[in-house]
Amino acid sequence: MDHDQLVDLTRRALKLARDKTTDLAAGQHTVDARDYSSPERHHSDRALMLASPQLVGYASELAGPGAYCTKTVMGRSVLLTRTSDGSVKAFDNVCLHRQSQVVTGCGTAKRFSCPYHAWTYDNSGKLVGLPGREGFPDVAVRSAGLTELPAAEFAGFLWVALDASATLDVAAHLGPLAEELESWGIGHWSPLGEKVLDTPINWKLAVDTFAENYHFATVHRDTFATIARSNCTVFDAYGPHHRLIFPLNAILDLEDVPEEQWDPFHNMVVIYALFPNIVLSVTIANGELFRIYPGDEPGRSITVHQNSTPLDLSEESVAAGAQAVFEYAHATVRDEDYRLVEGLQANIESGAHDHLVFGRNEPGLQHRHLSWAAALEAASTAG
Ligand code: FES
Ligand SMILES: [Fe+2]
Repeated sequence: MDHDQLVDLTRRALKLARDKTTDLAAGQHTVDARDYSSPERHHSDRALMLASPQLVGYASELAGPGAYCTKTVMGRSVLLTRTSDGSVKAFDNVCLHRQSQVVTGCGTAKRFSCPYHAWTYDNSGKLVGLPGREGFPDVAVRSAGLTELPAAEFAGFLWVALDASATLDVAAHLGPLAEELESWGIGHWSPLGEKVLDTPINWKLAVDTFAENYHFATVHRDTFATIARSNCTVFDAYGPHHRLIFPLNAILDLEDVPEEQWDPFHNMVVIYALFPNIVLSVTIANGELFRIYPGDEPGRSITVHQNSTPLDLSEESVAAGAQAVFEYAHATVRDEDYRLVEGLQANIESGAHDHLVFGRNEPGLQHRHLSWAAALEAASTAG
């Protein structure tokens, strides 16, 4: 994001902080409690996920030719590689023999030997080795290979389509946000690994926790709220995606500083909700990524939490410090946000109330649910 745009956002955030208010939606909004609990909606949500481009990680997770990483996306194991020409490929991580995962974790390798019976694949997915060849007269070694999925590196991130026959058009999906996401550089910072939360909450309740800061003063009283303002958000929608600016408490110090001297990015957290299930949180020091997936039933979801840092991790103490920051942020989401919303899921499933209310001061939350509803409506008309 260029400096002028940052200053402009800071000006808007400072005005909200000074006036003790927040960007407001036109009116209150109500959603049906069954959106979080019904098997029908769960089924449509899973279909929506399969039909949408999926951001699965940072471009820096495939640092150079020969690098690979594995991802679990809606229960599917996916292998991503960077081939010798620098391009990114993705495959179902499923051996052609008896469906073992061919590889786990991440690293550098030009060939992958299946841990079960050593069928071997190169990093463009081709089957290049089959021990005991006479046992498999029907396998055409020269043309056989892992099932390839559409894949792309775009705006600093790795993307796949879970439908092998789909076209993956990430530029169309992100629209004008693409350039802005790339400009932060977080997709090229050093990745710090993945932390996984398997929780008894609908995936949308998980996404909802990132869509407003109205809850900071209560839920995060002793953590985030010590540095960030509550119920104070700059909101902008970009088609089905949105951006929130959460001002830090220190933003009020800018009142007495001429704009030319502002260091604007030091006073905010920038949150992106990318349709349908991705949350990015950007600060000067951290590029957090939350990939949130529906689980096997409406009341379960998987959150994969990643973080990247602009720091040089070759020094041990720096790396340990970056991990400690990641762990702190992760513990806050796990122990404060998700723990609390487990109780919402239980209440919703009890059937005691048939709806939830989103305030005018929760425009991000409203936008999330309106975007999902519009996409489901379009899918049902098309289908
Ligand atoms: S399952 Fe992979 S070689 Fe047998
Ligand atoms: Fe929170």
